[in-house]
Amino acid sequence: MSTIYRPADADPPLLFPDYKATRIRAPKRPLIPIEHTLSEITGPVYGHERVGPGDHDLTKQFEGEPLGERIIVHGRVLDGDGRPVPDTLVELWQANASGRYRHVVDRHPAPLDPNFAGAGRAVTDRDGRYRFVTIKPGAYPWRNHDNAWRAAHIHLSLFGRAFAQRLVTQMYFPGDPLFFQDPIFHSVRDQDARELMISRFDLEQTVPEWALAYEFDIVLRGREATPVEA
Ligand SMILES: [Fe+2]
Repeated sequence: MSTIYRPADADPPLLFPDYKATRIRAPKRPLIPIEHTLSEITGPVYGHERVGPGDHDLTKQFEGEPLGERIIVHGRVLDGDGRPVPDTLVELWQANASGRYRHVVDRHPAPLDPNFAGAGRAVTDRDGRYRFVTIKPGAYPWRNHDNAWRAAHIHLSLFGRAFAQRLVTQMYFPGDPLFFQDPIFHSVRDQDARELMISRFDLEQTVPEWALAYEFDIVLRGREATPVEA
């Protein structure tokens, strides 16, 4: 395990007043560590259904293609020493190109896309690599403060070797004009750590005349660790 120094403010705090919902949901008392039970550590991680070969492609889940800008999102899952982490379930969820989630509580008056569910999953290969084909998500309003808009982002979840080993983070896009006013982005207070959540435009993996690519490595530990949500 890496012992490289990592700033204390590299992960978002439970209470970050600018992010209004944390004022209500952050615990008011100190957390109590609870030891994992044996079944939490040894039990199966996934459900009964195996990850299918097409689960990583969010543009092929329906008869028609979703609207918007098709993109490739790919990267590696790495430990603190830069070693690839294979066989990790990576789940992704996001808004559609119009900035709308297919979810009952999303009331943003932007169109749903009948050909886009906004969720996919992949398992890292022996080199720790994952790859998704999806649609670039739109920005969306969220009423946190006056004229509040989330910077475009993709939610990602990783499972380790046991059900209790789960990380959740968000991936952003380079040069987004909304970063400055997004308190979820800024709840990671360390600037270097914040930039670890921004994907890299990747011309090399771009498929000519088909889709642009963005690279996003997820690092589990150490100074370069990707910030994760509590
Ligand atoms: Fe979101």
